[in-house]
Amino acid sequence: DTIEWSSEDAEKSGYDHYMLKEIHEQPASLNQTIHGRFDPTDESITLDDFEPGEFSDISRVEFVACGTSYHAALYGCHLLGQRGIPAYAHRAGEYASNPMPVDDETLVIGVTQSGETADTLESLRRLEDTPARTLALTNVIGSTAARETDDVLYIRAGPEIGVAATKTFSSQVTALALLSERLHRDITGEPSAHSSGLLQSLGALPEQIESILDSDPTAELTRKYQGMDAHFFIGRGIAHPVALEGALKFKEITYEHAEGFAAGQLKHGPLALVTPNTVVIAVFTGDHDEKTLNNVREVQARGASVIGIAPEDATEVAATVDDLIPIPSSTPELNGLLANVQLQLLSYHFANRLERSIDKPRNLAKSVTVE
Ligand code: AGP
Repeated sequence: DTIEWSSEDAEKSGYDHYMLKEIHEQPASLNQTIHGRFDPTDESITLDDFEPGEFSDISRVEFVACGTSYHAALYGCHLLGQRGIPAYAHRAGEYASNPMPVDDETLVIGVTQSGETADTLESLRRLEDTPARTLALTNVIGSTAARETDDVLYIRAGPEIGVAATKTFSSQVTALALLSERLHRDITGEPSAHSSGLLQSLGALPEQIESILDSDPTAELTRKYQGMDAHFFIGRGIAHPVALEGALKFKEITYEHAEGFAAGQLKHGPLALVTPNTVVIAVFTGDHDEKTLNNVREVQARGASVIGIAPEDATEVAATVDDLIPIPSSTPELNGLLANVQLQLLSYHFANRLERSIDKPRNLAKSVTVE
């Protein structure tokens, strides 16, 4: 007997889907993203060819991005904001039609895995005759975004085939963490208060992701929560963009109804949708957990079940939620990334159980080259 192997099977290295392969590649792809870019012993950050002080005249950052890259940009806003640098993320589809005023102290970062997304490219082109400095944060060497911007920082995640972006989100956020710390140093002349914690934790991140992938507790939950009407993802602070990303991934590959909300936003409208047939996935990073727990109690009081994703030492979260998906403890800044890996697995297992076309979801393309 012979076993039939297509070249695609070979490229999936034994995984059923590219998405699962790419989720499992994250320890290695993150190592590539950080390789040579910081030294934990003297805490220096060397971002490729950027000279120390390169960004000293920047006073604010604007992001333009779509989809998952937009969520990475929102995450980046928190990383910059915590370092005292004003930052705002724009959806590129809006920005291309309605650009905001910029000046010569504005750094506009186009976050785009492919470097070919039409809305993002058009947003960046709208800045050509302005004094703003533009930077592409991209995965693809020589892509249009890389060629058309003033500067480029590569995320070095390696090729991503699955339409659902996974490892590239992790690499985008990690590169943005280093860039944020670097901007703070260039602007103020010294490391931020978060510097040591961030750099120590970044070094440990690939191994922590490995431990999540080894245990992968989410498959079980797909049985318990199948057939629900709605899946709401909530979080506060950094957990907010993670919740948005969790919901996007979930809807993209399961075709089930999913929405992401800022946890505090529920009582301003969405709470009306909550029934016993709603499952709420609440993301905790160790910052603002008390407030998010109040939001969890609000939905539980309306009959919803809650899956919490939280650091393993978050005892009150564990005691409150209906099911807990633990993550190894990192800094609150990076706990969001670890939680996101669990969300990737959760979406994957739900979609797999529903036998969806995981690598090529209906109606979607990997790179959206029309506005
Ligand atoms: C993510 O899972 C999606 N496929 C999609 O939202 C994607 O992130 C978006 O189209 C942006 O692509 P880019 O990063 O290549 O610009």
